[in-house]
Amino acid sequence: MATDVHRPVNPQVTEVSGTEAPRPARAVRVQGLTRSFDGRAVIDDLRLDVRPGEFVALLGRSGCGKSTLLRILAGLDRDIEGTVLVPRRKAVAFQAPRLMPWKKVWRNVLLGLPGKPDRTVADQALEEVGLSHRADAWPKTLSGGEAQRASLARALVREPDLLLLDEPFGALDALTRIKAQRLVGELWQRRGCAVLLVTHDVEEAVLLADRVLVMDDGVIAHEQEIDLARPRDIADPRFAEIRGHLLARLGVDTAAEAA
Ligand SMILES: Nc1ncnc2c1ncn2[C@@H]1O[C@H](COP(=O)(O)OP(=O)(O)O)[C@@H](O)[C@H]1O
Ligand SMILES: [Mg+2]
Repeated sequence: MATDVHRPVNPQVTEVSGTEAPRPARAVRVQGLTRSFDGRAVIDDLRLDVRPGEFVALLGRSGCGKSTLLRILAGLDRDIEGTVLVPRRKAVAFQAPRLMPWKKVWRNVLLGLPGKPDRTVADQALEEVGLSHRADAWPKTLSGGEAQRASLARALVREPDLLLLDEPFGALDALTRIKAQRLVGELWQRRGCAVLLVTHDVEEAVLLADRVLVMDDGVIAHEQEIDLARPRDIADPRFAEIRGHLLARLGVDTAAEAA
């Protein structure tokens, strides 16, 4: 069994020698990963590599083990066999924003950070997600979209080299969801961190990711590079082609869907 961390993928290099510290070739390296519950292997000899700065989306039917994999990468579950290498700086956001109701938004953003971080750290992250005006609000007064932005800000203050997102837009209405997807796309481009996004939405995966993975039977059963230029247009025939291909992989008949 091994769970380990890389040094930061983008270390803050102080100019001593004038050369940059070597950048690991991978942000994530998983080999021979197995996770069983009650003798049943949910993840079974799984292999996965993610490049630094790469945006990867993970699809798969409900219950196939996506969240289990994400929790392992986040270091929240260490009862595993195999090798898992992840950057030390990583952050995770779930479908439920998980804000503490007795702490104002800005205090929630700083929750769990080591040391005694200054409020300005929270304010900067809240500005980045367009939520500065709600910094002093109580979580229960936030809309679903705002709460999810606060959750993203809490991930960003960790300055992650790896951002793990588990269906973060799943509970949002359609319009809010589109805005939140755009925001994540922008944050990723600005920050340059690797992202692993678990989603059940094929369109979302093709819209955002460099590479889409389909999980099945405890392994990555299929993967597809998305070589469409950004920003992506869902009306592009090639977009529809990739979407159809992935849906077929997931066992959804697009002809029947259209009927
Ligand atoms: N802590 C746990 N104890 C027992 N079974 C679990 C636990 N966590 C997940 N499972 C089981 O593992 C399988 C995969 O779950 P999960 O990773 O949440 O799926 P997904 O996120 O793809 O919907 C499911 O059958 C689930 O019931
Ligand atoms: Mg899940």
